[in-house]
Amino acid sequence: TPRWTDVAAEADLFEGAGIPVAPEGHDIALFAIDGEVFATDNLCTHGHAKLCDGFLEGHEIECPFHQGRFDVRSGAPTCAPATEAVKTWPVKVEGGRVYLDLG
Ligand code: FES
Repeated sequence: TPRWTDVAAEADLFEGAGIPVAPEGHDIALFAIDGEVFATDNLCTHGHAKLCDGFLEGHEIECPFHQGRFDVRSGAPTCAPATEAVKTWPVKVEGGRVYLDLG
């Protein structure tokens, strides 16, 4: 069963950029794109960089260290040197709050 957890106010998000949240000790990045919200693990799978500090282009987040890229919808790597998918988290937005299913 899903375990929806309130992690942020929708108003805390910036269109086209990421913010970090840390529910229950997880390190997760939220991205607001065209009114939708996506969540991935914040740590790049290539090295010790935070994806919330990266550059968002369309649905791709570019890692600030070596410009690896991931699709925030699936976590799939889309540009080297990123080769391993980053974990994604289910998101819902309700009543101005952002919830993640920490399942
Ligand atoms: Fe992210 Fe190298 S640490 S691409």
